[in-house]
Amino acid sequence: MLVLGIETSCDETGIALYDGTNNKIVFECLYSQADKHSLYGGVVPELAARDHVNKFLPLLKKGLSDSGCCLKEIDAIAYTKGPGLRGPLMVGASFAKSLGFALNKPVIAVHHMEAHLLMAKYDAPELVYPFLTLLVSGGHTILAKVDKSGSYKILGQTIDDAVGEAFDKTAKMLGLKYPGGPEIEKRSIQGKSMNFSFPRPVINSDDYNFSFSGLKTSVLYKINSLKKEGNLSEDLISNVCFEFQNAVIDCLLHKTKKALKDFSLNQVVLSGGVAANKELRRRFSKELGEEYSAIYPDFSHCTDNGTMIAFTGFEKLNLYKEDNKIFVNPRWSLEEIANG
Ligand code: KG4
Ligand code: ZN
Repeated sequence: MLVLGIETSCDETGIALYDGTNNKIVFECLYSQADKHSLYGGVVPELAARDHVNKFLPLLKKGLSDSGCCLKEIDAIAYTKGPGLRGPLMVGASFAKSLGFALNKPVIAVHHMEAHLLMAKYDAPELVYPFLTLLVSGGHTILAKVDKSGSYKILGQTIDDAVGEAFDKTAKMLGLKYPGGPEIEKRSIQGKSMNFSFPRPVINSDDYNFSFSGLKTSVLYKINSLKKEGNLSEDLISNVCFEFQNAVIDCLLHKTKKALKDFSLNQVVLSGGVAANKELRRRFSKELGEEYSAIYPDFSHCTDNGTMIAFTGFEKLNLYKEDNKIFVNPRWSLEEIANG
């Protein structure tokens, strides 16, 4: 059973073919538009949609020819229906529906955040339900309890900026390029602790929520005061990155520990772009405590990719319902998967 996965929710065109019968990836192709959006300091939805249109067919052709597969062998097509940017989502949905129509194959709508989460099942088969998940991306920061595939209870989420967004905005303020997460991670390695530290907003609140916008503002004040002193050297930029990243990880770790304890769970799956951060992984693995384990997809499967959509599409095949509409849901909640 071969499932083609199509991911276009933001600025990555991801296309992959997954062989569900043998649990094997046949091909994965990814094109990142990051350099284009870097000029603007963030994703421009219209440009992203146009670039998906340009890149879709060449990527699909490359995947098929590199793997020696042909279109007729595909049994189903899965695409990201949401959440994400409406224009880019529409491009993927249109390609998926057109391919399904031409090949007379089922087309499965996939929830982007569920796909981030389920990808861990492919890369870490030791995962057992129930477990906790911390989904950390450019658009979301969600702590949820997972009872089984498709059954998610959101325990907490960000009340303002998503954690990836905070990385991106902080990087922009420091003059670093987009996407900011990997840049801040790199600079943090050279950075060291200073005589200042940033706040950890809502870290002690009796819930499972996060807040990053105050932290970001606090970084802005620090940058402004360092500039006033005429003093924003490369070393200081690295130190600010170091302190910012530590503050973010402290918040994520603290609420995750609380949720694991309160809900008597012993495994947490981290996924989404920010879960590619090595320091985050190091600290979770070290500081969660012996009775808990942190599980992650491979680094290349944390950020957006077509494989996670193909893999999730295969898991959802039995839910397939015929429908001819091209419909996306930019604000689809993880708890509303059944209702589309
Ligand atoms: O999951 P993803 O690829 O796209 C969304 O669904 O949003 O996540 C992208 C986000 C960006 O904000 C990016 O800066 C962040 O993930 N990111 C990282 C790292 N790699 C990507 N943040 C921190 N450290 C990283 N190594
Ligand atoms: Zn994503």
